[in-house]
Amino acid sequence: MGLFITMEGPDGAGKSTQIDLLRDYLLEKGYDIIVCREPGGTEISESIRQIILNKDYTKMGNMTELLLYAAARAQLVEEVIRPAIEEGKVVICDRFLESSVVYQGIARGMGIELVYKVNEYAIGDMMPDLTVMIDLDAEEGIQRKKNQTELDRMERESIEFHEKVVDGYRSLLDQGLDRIKRVDGMQPVDAIQTRIRELVNKLIES
Ligand code: TYD
Repeated sequence: MGLFITMEGPDGAGKSTQIDLLRDYLLEKGYDIIVCREPGGTEISESIRQIILNKDYTKMGNMTELLLYAAARAQLVEEVIRPAIEEGKVVICDRFLESSVVYQGIARGMGIELVYKVNEYAIGDMMPDLTVMIDLDAEEGIQRKKNQTELDRMERESIEFHEKVVDGYRSLLDQGLDRIKRVDGMQPVDAIQTRIRELVNKLIES
């Protein structure tokens, strides 16, 4: 069986940069790597992404949002993640279950029980072996995003919303789930990567 690693954190935490570096590292070590992002990662899931993040869809209800994220995830698990894990590959996914728990369950206030329940249908038993959470204050993350691109529907949410996201991630860390590890997002890129590699190597050895 392969390894399933997910990367989490608020908008602007630098997940994609870190994923690229981790992929290079693991490729060099001879692993077969699949990288995917959520929402997206398959043709159908990317189409769902276009709907979810469309900045003109300001009318989108919370339940619609939750179910669309879960639908995109179900397709990604079925089409990409499960087959890759069964073939013994390493899958690195940019966002997964915890994004829904935090953004929809906590920041949107839908409740984490509901989010877990809906996602049970989408994910089944395909749980990550390691979840790296890049921790960063909301203000800092959104400022970084603003400097990079035009903001999408989620990124246009209020700073209060993004603060709830950050608090949500921190509350998950406080629960002390073994699989979820914090990395300080204020550290330089190289230092963050070193820490992530340590975590991944520990997982590989175990
Ligand atoms: P992403 O493309 O990862 O944003 P970025 O690369 O800019 O961090 O994710 C898009 C947005 O969707 C992001 O604001 C987080 C949000 N999101 C949820 O609200 N719930 C989810 O389940 C997922 C996967 C993402």
